Amino acid sequence: MTGKDPVCVVTGASAGIGKETARGMAERGYSVVIVGRDAARTEEAAAYVRSHSKGASVSAALCDFSSLAAVRSLGASLLSSQPRIDVLINNAGLWHPQRQLSRDGLEDTLAVNHLAPFLLTNLLLPRLQASGAARIVNVSSRLHEKLTEFPFDDPQSERNYHGLRAYARSKLANVLFSAELAVRLQGTGVTSNALHPGDVVSDILREKPVLRFFGKLAAPLFDSPESASRTSLYVATAKELAGVSGAYFKKQKRAKESSLAQDAAARAKLWALSEQLVGLT
Ligand SMILES: NC(=O)c1ccc[n+]([C@@H]2O[C@H](COP(=O)([O-])OP(=O)(O)OC[C@H]3O[C@@H](n4cnc5c(N)ncnc54)[C@H](OP(=O)(O)O)[C@@H]3O)[C@@H](O)[C@H]2O)c1
Repeated sequence: MTGKDPVCVVTGASAGIGKETARGMAERGYSVVIVGRDAARTEEAAAYVRSHSKGASVSAALCDFSSLAAVRSLGASLLSSQPRIDVLINNAGLWHPQRQLSRDGLEDTLAVNHLAPFLLTNLLLPRLQASGAARIVNVSSRLHEKLTEFPFDDPQSERNYHGLRAYARSKLANVLFSAELAVRLQGTGVTSNALHPGDVVSDILREKPVLRFFGKLAAPLFDSPESASRTSLYVATAKELAGVSGAYFKKQKRAKESSLAQDAAARAKLWALSEQLVGLT
């Protein structure tokens, strides 16, 4: 590794799909920054990625996405440590069966799954743009396709909280953000795409032990973290996707966008709301 290798930042890389995505990027010659929230799990993941990609530069960065201050600090640290960032994979995500608040008093699913990557991406944009044809990869979920609107009258699910619905909303926010970002980045060479990685029995079920137990039994029927990482790796690196932006992918193929992703008014409204909630003006 020369120090001139392209750099990839993968969030939520301490486990599951993100960990395999980090491994895949290191194997493809990227210098990889693994972002996790727990020091031991993140270091273990970095060691795993190093052991599978001889010679790759792999570093670890810690950030709890439940805190906007921590996201700002991560952004500052990446800007000072990485002279270039060629790929940003916004993969970190969670699901809370019960409503929880972030450190900033925001509904935590929206905070971690959407507001944190929204803020981090905006903080890193100047470095991504300066790095040339950089790619921003937003890991959403096919669950967002079930929704017919984003609840602008109750964005933080204060009424009738339902964990899966809050999760689906946050994943719809990922797609709306990704598409709006693509529009805003037109002409810069930087692309923004969203994807559904696959269906994996992962730690995302940690707060539902019964579901996790039966899920583990049925795991062979689902995608593995490694197979689910392939769509992120495809969108992050495929030569044929150079210049492709504002698209949505499943199973390493372009998929039909949610009709909502084409709703320019909803995209702009979510962008303005997100700016306000994270304090970016
Ligand atoms: N599994 C599926 O079937 C599926 C389907 C569609 C989409 N997805 C999406 O795929 C992505 C990865 O999910 P996964 O299944 O691989 O889940 P996972 O195994 O639970 O991994 C999630 C990653 O996000 C990190 N994370 C969670 N909360 C965080 C926080 N507050 N701050 C910083 N990092 C945090 C986790 O860190 P820790 O190791 O500390 O927990 C972990 O590294 C998510 O965006 C998810 O929505 C998953």
